[in-house]
Amino acid sequence: MEVIIRPSSAEAAMLAARLIAAALRVKPHLVLGLATGRTMEQVYDLLANMELDFAACRTFNLDEYIGVPPDDEHSYRSYMNQRLLGRVNIRLTSTHVPDGMAPDLGAEAARYERLIGEAGGIDLQLLGIGEDGHIGFNEPLSSLMSRTREKALSPATRRQNAAMFGGDADRVPKRALTMGVGTILDARRVVLLATGPAKAAVLARAVEGPITAMISASALQLHPRCTVIADEDAASAMAQREYYDWAFQNEPEWEGYRP
Ligand code: GLP
Repeated sequence: MEVIIRPSSAEAAMLAARLIAAALRVKPHLVLGLATGRTMEQVYDLLANMELDFAACRTFNLDEYIGVPPDDEHSYRSYMNQRLLGRVNIRLTSTHVPDGMAPDLGAEAARYERLIGEAGGIDLQLLGIGEDGHIGFNEPLSSLMSRTREKALSPATRRQNAAMFGGDADRVPKRALTMGVGTILDARRVVLLATGPAKAAVLARAVEGPITAMISASALQLHPRCTVIADEDAASAMAQREYYDWAFQNEPEWEGYRP
């Protein structure tokens, strides 16, 4: 794992966008794993303005609320179309979000896993982190080997996402379809972006604490090519800061860091 700390959330988002742009330039038919949430809004805005060629790119989103139709403004499909997919030259048929309206959610989960496999696996998976340590919607107790499946959202997650539902946590769906931790670990490269003070405690536990199903992001310690990008606020509780800064300045791991 590599940890990169940037002075501001804007600069952290810019680095994440640049890494995705670099990967897309190297491999135009990139299979890109996408995340939602407020943290990603800046990244998608930057990507949409970089004049990148997404014509051959395929995307897979991490998760979707169950019972929210794709054209509902609260769906992650709407979020993605509005923030990125509708703003670049990607073919919408090459973009995938789990179908939270599927009558048979188990079959939909299996279909999603199959589609990822048929695409050749995910080259680069972008991740945020929930305040309870979730990646995707892998809430505490998610098996570190889990695959795409239905998951009940924690009360804390529903409170955190209430802002997108008029501030009312009761309106946030109770369940979601999400890639599993094992699905995420299968991606060839992972980039986790965390910004803001609310993520500081959980990010330190995920990066520097023991690997535990209570913090699904801690499973990323098992991934051979994982980059964590944080702003100063999100990085403020990490103990090994000096080493992370030194390594990034002197021994950076990825050629994509160059502008
Ligand atoms: C959401 C999503 C995650 C996202 C996380 C953080 O619930 N399922 O994929 O990373 O929570 O969201 P935010 O960036 O708004 O803090």
